Amino acid sequence: MADIRFQVHRFNPETDEKPYYQEYQFTPLEGSTVLDCLNYIKWHLDDTLAYRMSCRSAICGSCAMRVNGHAKLVCQTQVKNVVRPDGTVRIDPVGNMPVLKDLIADMHGFWTKMQAVKPYLMPTQPPPSANQEYLQLPEAFRLFEEEATCIMCGACVSDCTSLESDKQFLGPAALAKAYRFSADTRDGRRHERLEELIERGGMWDCVRCNECVQTCPKTVAPMEAILKLRQMALKERLTDSIGARHVTVFTDIVGRRGILDERELPVRSLGFNPVKLLGMAPVALQSVLKGKIRPLEPPHKVKGVEDVQRIHREMEDGS
Ligand code: FES
Repeated sequence: MADIRFQVHRFNPETDEKPYYQEYQFTPLEGSTVLDCLNYIKWHLDDTLAYRMSCRSAICGSCAMRVNGHAKLVCQTQVKNVVRPDGTVRIDPVGNMPVLKDLIADMHGFWTKMQAVKPYLMPTQPPPSANQEYLQLPEAFRLFEEEATCIMCGACVSDCTSLESDKQFLGPAALAKAYRFSADTRDGRRHERLEELIERGGMWDCVRCNECVQTCPKTVAPMEAILKLRQMALKERLTDSIGARHVTVFTDIVGRRGILDERELPVRSLGFNPVKLLGMAPVALQSVLKGKIRPLEPPHKVKGVEDVQRIHREMEDGS
């Protein structure tokens, strides 16, 4: 392996006014992970560098960092796979969290949101008999098997684009955890959980960018869990939210006309709320100017709408 230049994020709140990159150059051993390289830096070049690690086996979740701008577990990331054409690797702390020092992020907000979704079983039935566990069949466990693999490393939260623009959003890790317990057949509080999760900052505030699915080092696929939460909420008739109305109105319009009418969608989704509708005025104006919305055109159905209506009916029957 050739020489690699590691550009490492440095920041000591006691001495630095702002963060900067420090460069370390050396030739890693064949097969080195990015964490091996950080350890080499700390143990041989600069013992002031601060970062978290523990298991070195992609189990504990403590070594999540951004490598070239995307969150990864550095203990499972081979350096040869991330070295850029100019021979550099850039290492930053995880995103969407304040930085405490160098590569260490403050995960307090992460844990607060995790706690907010009540990440524990709340059975309403007593255990089968005194001092016995709530047992579960393998097929019931499979409903949330993937979500149960979460090691809470924060990689998905780091790269979540919704969270970047809305700090109130619970985020992919907490929502995946919420699904894990909502889907658990031993839990007795699914409806109450879902009622809380349809509120502002909950399941409907994910923009489905798929970043969390790409970045998760396990098989959690948080966005898929969020979509399953939405299906659960709709099945439980928890439809009094903009997100839920958007989905139901969207499918209703397309199901009737075979085409989306963008004049009707926001009005019904926002629940005929004049203040919120007024807030949409700039977008509506842009849409009219760009020809996306034609205000004077009467609502119409597409040719072959019967086929769309049949698909819509079958979809509704199957749900
Ligand atoms: S050190 Fe434990 S997951 Fe990387």
